[in-house]
Amino acid sequence: MEYKAPPGVFDIVPHGQQEPSSKETWRSTHLWQEVERVARTLASRYGFSEIRTPIFEKTELLCRGVGEGSDIVSKEMYTFEDRGGRSLTLRPEGTAPVVRALIENQLLHQGKTTKVFYIGPMFRYERSQAGRYRQHHQFGVEAIGCPAPEQDAELIDMLYTLYRTLGLKNLSLYINSIGTPAVRKNYREALVAFFRQHETSLSTDSKARLERNPLRILDSKDPGDQKILAQAPTIHHFFDEETNTHFSTLQKRLDTLKIPYTISPLLVRGLDYYNKTVFEITSGDLGAQNSLGGGGRYDGLVSLLGGPDMPAAGFGTGIERILQAMIAQQVAPCALPPVRLLLIPMGEAERQTALLLQQTLRTQGYAIDTDWSERKLGKRLADASTAHIPWVAIIGDNEQQQGVVSLKEMATGATRLVPWHEVAQNL
Ligand code: HAM
Repeated sequence: MEYKAPPGVFDIVPHGQQEPSSKETWRSTHLWQEVERVARTLASRYGFSEIRTPIFEKTELLCRGVGEGSDIVSKEMYTFEDRGGRSLTLRPEGTAPVVRALIENQLLHQGKTTKVFYIGPMFRYERSQAGRYRQHHQFGVEAIGCPAPEQDAELIDMLYTLYRTLGLKNLSLYINSIGTPAVRKNYREALVAFFRQHETSLSTDSKARLERNPLRILDSKDPGDQKILAQAPTIHHFFDEETNTHFSTLQKRLDTLKIPYTISPLLVRGLDYYNKTVFEITSGDLGAQNSLGGGGRYDGLVSLLGGPDMPAAGFGTGIERILQAMIAQQVAPCALPPVRLLLIPMGEAERQTALLLQQTLRTQGYAIDTDWSERKLGKRLADASTAHIPWVAIIGDNEQQQGVVSLKEMATGATRLVPWHEVAQNL
């Protein structure tokens, strides 16, 4: 019996820098650590603290938070009953769980903005394909308490800066406003009336959405739907004063920050909680699943989930897609070799010396390994070279007698005798 991971999920594994850069390089642990490191550093610069919520929640929370009309709730959730008969769901996204946690832990205060970030797995039963997985990982941030368009601009700036810091190019930022609930209600009515006139020509998916979530038809990639969409009313004609002011101020702030953007009237995003600002950043090097990250404002969600009436905004970005774009653009860093120095003891007494020496060096903070095999020196050196270990210390009979090691710099082959207590300062 051969066991494989279930479809749509993958392992993150320690490929060394010796691995040829293959299509699977994005699964290398060192790259995940690098993206996470940059994300954490950025989060603290922008004033966000880390929050960790459980990977499963009560199903009701997600139905209510993400919305019954969304694809996520209607067909993508991993829902199960626990032994106590409760319906639980593996979290498909981070926003609703984070809002639940902030309310439950009483971390929200009127007049104050609470800013948190998270990094972790999300679960969606999607058709698996390149760039789309059943367990994916997000870096997400949520800022709760600030109604200002400057907050939206700051979040967009943060997401854009994250990608730029990681070396990504070829980015496009799309923004839109889907207005206040009142704007959306009027627009929805106009859209339904319009689509009814074209109902017979709509794709099956879009027909189903007509009742459940007509705004999502705007996202359709179906060529037939797209022709119809070209004639559809756009939301901008339904904007009220509040929506207009918020959206035009956001654009001014992005201009101030010199962040280029395109207004995309068809951008609505797939989660029901958004209002006013929505945004997405895509990469030209990702193929069909080209959305690197996205987010927006969700002013009604906190009160919907039983908290105070507070405005909020945030974003989430998929770490898989970031890494795949970095690899496609050849900006992914190489792995540092995990070990700085390999000790090679040649005999019994030398093994004792190696054991003590590696303990001392590790205490001093060096990453050390010892080759405990009893193979020929040549074989052991060849292995060290394949593993890209920069230094090797050979301890043979002579070295043992004199209290030294033969310290070899693998890149140059240069070797010299170094007393045991001076090895560290020679690395
Ligand atoms: P989302 O657009 O559903 O938003 O997901 C955010 C990002 O996660 C996407 O842009 C994409 O990079 C990645 N992603 C989503 N699904 C998959 C998948 N199946 N496989 C690989 N990557 C995927 C949210 O989840 C919102 N909670 C974001 C947010 C936070 N809005 C406000 N605050």
